[in-house]
Amino acid sequence: MLNIAHRGFSAQYPENTILSFQKALELGVTWIELDLQTTADDQLVVMHDATVDRTTDGTGPVSEKTLEEVLALDAGIHRDEVFRNQRVPTFDQVLDQLDPVPRIVVELKFSGFDAIPRVLDAIASAGAQSRTVISSFDLPKLPRVKALAPEMPLTALLKAEGRETQELISMTIDLGAHTIAPRCSDIDRSLVEQAHDAGLLVRAWGLGRDQGEEMSRMMDCGVDGMTTDCPDILQRLVRERGLT
Ligand code: G3P
Ligand code: CA
Repeated sequence: MLNIAHRGFSAQYPENTILSFQKALELGVTWIELDLQTTADDQLVVMHDATVDRTTDGTGPVSEKTLEEVLALDAGIHRDEVFRNQRVPTFDQVLDQLDPVPRIVVELKFSGFDAIPRVLDAIASAGAQSRTVISSFDLPKLPRVKALAPEMPLTALLKAEGRETQELISMTIDLGAHTIAPRCSDIDRSLVEQAHDAGLLVRAWGLGRDQGEEMSRMMDCGVDGMTTDCPDILQRLVRERGLT
């Protein structure tokens, strides 16, 4: 069971910060998930939203700020004063600075395709190809990644929006992805079995706080992993079942 710390240990620490990732790793979790945006000077930074408003003390689109301007923002006090002086990490920092070295699910949040080669270059420069998965809701990005890095594992983040399970599976396969990742509420045992029969792994997302029962349901369904804001709770549930 892949226990993937969503934006780090984001239930307790400011999301997508080195602190949040480090605290997840201190739990013994080996996988983290992060989001990538690009700055006005084409640098990759770890941030979920297209604007800095929600997670920093600044305002405006991240794509209109230079790296220097983004790094000057405080990425902790939106959460609590005790987290003052947390910074928005660069992608390189997350690839290079964490100990122990994590496995990383990278979500491409930036718009357009231009930054994809830079993402792959950063992963290659860090020697992180074997510990990295690339994911996106912006599905046309995935074949673009595949064309440049055929060996890179890909996860298709899907919103079911009424589609039949077999259509979701076909979409995932056609994109060249090895993992199908619907929202947890769209997953049942039948979806997992059909995806496994098609040779796909299944990963659930949408497991925020107070979702212990849904995590248990996901395990009952047989998913291969989940992103969760509460990797501590998933870790406990996994151990209670004698899983690894
Ligand atoms: O793992 C997928 C998950 O990260 C999707 O939701 O909004 O956190 O990017 P979001
Ligand atoms: Ca994400």
